[in-house]
Amino acid sequence: MAESMKGLKRTHRCTEVSKENIGETVTIMGWVQRRRNLGHMIFVLVRDRSGLLQVIFDGNEIEEELFTKAGTLRNEFVVAIVGKVEARSEDINPNMKTGEIEIRAEQLRILSESQTPPFPIEENSQTKEEIRLKYRYLDLRRPDLQKNLIMRSQIATLARAFLAEEGFLEIETPTLCKSTPEGARDYLVPSRVHPGNFYALPQSPQLFKQLLMCSGYDRYFQLARCYRDEDLRADRQPEFTQIDMELSFVDVDDVIDVNERLLAKLFREVLGVEIPLPIPRMTWQEAMDRFGSDKPDIRFGMELKDISDLVKDCGFGVFTGALENGGTVRGINANGQGAMPRKKIDALVEFAKGYGAKGLAYLSIGEDGSYKSSFAKFMAEEELSAIVERLEGKPGDLLFFAADKTNIVYAVLGALRLELAKQMGLLKKEEYKFLWVVEFPLLEFSEEENRYVAMHHPFTMPMDEDIPLLDTDPGKVRAKAYDITLNGTELGGGSVRIYQGEIQEKMFEILGFSKESAYQQFGFLLNAFEYGVPPHAGLAYGFDRLVMLMAKQDNIRDVIAFPKVKDASCLMSEAPNVVDKKQLEELKITLA
Ligand code: AMO
Ligand code: AMP
Repeated sequence: MAESMKGLKRTHRCTEVSKENIGETVTIMGWVQRRRNLGHMIFVLVRDRSGLLQVIFDGNEIEEELFTKAGTLRNEFVVAIVGKVEARSEDINPNMKTGEIEIRAEQLRILSESQTPPFPIEENSQTKEEIRLKYRYLDLRRPDLQKNLIMRSQIATLARAFLAEEGFLEIETPTLCKSTPEGARDYLVPSRVHPGNFYALPQSPQLFKQLLMCSGYDRYFQLARCYRDEDLRADRQPEFTQIDMELSFVDVDDVIDVNERLLAKLFREVLGVEIPLPIPRMTWQEAMDRFGSDKPDIRFGMELKDISDLVKDCGFGVFTGALENGGTVRGINANGQGAMPRKKIDALVEFAKGYGAKGLAYLSIGEDGSYKSSFAKFMAEEELSAIVERLEGKPGDLLFFAADKTNIVYAVLGALRLELAKQMGLLKKEEYKFLWVVEFPLLEFSEEENRYVAMHHPFTMPMDEDIPLLDTDPGKVRAKAYDITLNGTELGGGSVRIYQGEIQEKMFEILGFSKESAYQQFGFLLNAFEYGVPPHAGLAYGFDRLVMLMAKQDNIRDVIAFPKVKDASCLMSEAPNVVDKKQLEELKITLA
């Protein structure tokens, strides 16, 4: 039966007890990690969120009743223990924070009992993730997840304090919003009072934070919950958190400056890592050309090299064909991989096809300088040498080439570069390489919709010098948009916003909105802009992604208390679920 803790008060968390407390009587409360009986001694490891502490029940010293009770303890029982702190006489455990001490128990209360848990509560669990997610409340007891969530809380607290000190106000914005079709798919919430009408959960606080600038709040931030109904990946969840901010009377450099100082502070105080400032910047075009990605991992080289000029007249139809179709031929050098077995190369060709490649050409350079290649027979010796030279190929290297439309070549080689780096062990988690990617294209042509869509969002300001191109060549316009990337992950993004009516109207026109439809969707913002709008800009971090990288995790699930799985369901609560007929009737909803 559960005992009460009446009369007892916890004095320490487990690892708050130290050598300093030797001789003192302390009271700890926590979960039984493990019990071991050694004749007249019972050793119990007690765990709380701070860590572990060993307790001894010494049969030679204590009442038999207490000793017997200790013998009934099982894993995950919740206990309160009063005892004296002692130095360990033997069995000192250097791997444990409290490894030099133990507690000699004088009192034990069993506050609650536990069934045998479905998996052991331990670090680096080998239990299948589905089972752990089903019992997430038990999984969350594991020290690795506790460390992650404690770090998450610490980062949030530091970010809040920093932003407050910089004059930002924390203001909440609605989560029942108006649906607008730009961006990802919305999560919809039916309205009972307005049958047939729906709210959308916010994909971000974008419009509201811009309105707050119109209202004069000057500097805003929020740890904002955002919802996007899109395909899940390792760094995407249907609901996630942004550190969202917006600033008035600023340009690109001001936003970058305050955010560099924020990042430097977080990394210094949480990880003891100094980020060299300023963080380097690279234009979007350069990032694509050199790394095939708008979020390049610059912890390693293996940069893309354009060989189109070298192969335009060669005898290899795959290359010349791609060029004749307006495409490009580019390659990367996997240094030292020349001995890669054929099977592994074939697997990489399949990998490349997953990114839209029709094939992947390769050339390996033997230790004697000879070439082995899928296309050597179509080329003259000089052509091959020129290609090898362009890629700085040395004996023992392996070169890969893709020929296709430029965007496909970027995607294929960008992904291949990362895959090779992974296989070659070049991705070190303790190395943090930040990069600002700037001057994104304003627009992206959507083949699917046969129109331009905003690359960031429709309120992003074109670069001053590119404004005339809006009329002549909108596809070429660069935006005052920036992303902060870390080790190949897009941590955050933002832009300077349009605040001039004429430019905004032109933008809507290019995006194919009529004046009416623009007003129907964004009227409240456009109207607000008619009453005095300051120049403003902002940025939002994916908070979960930031924590994931700082906690050296591979999946944002591991830094979110109650995450969802690939099909956007929660294995623990079983959301989403079928609702009562009565609830649907109230909402005037019938299912198709
Ligand atoms: P954006 O859409 O780039 O910009 O989002 C900002 C950052 O949020 C993170 N993120 C996600 N994290 C987890 N799961 C997801 N599904 C997910 N989607 C996005 C990314 C991303 O960089 N309102 C603008 C910001 C601005 O312009 O100020 C916005 O939302 O890390
Ligand atoms: P094929 O002529 O299709 O047999 O291809 C000859 C070689 O070129 C093979 O190694 C293919 O993998 C490679 N290849 C085919 N298409 C491409 C492409 N678009 N880019 C690069 N290599 C390709």
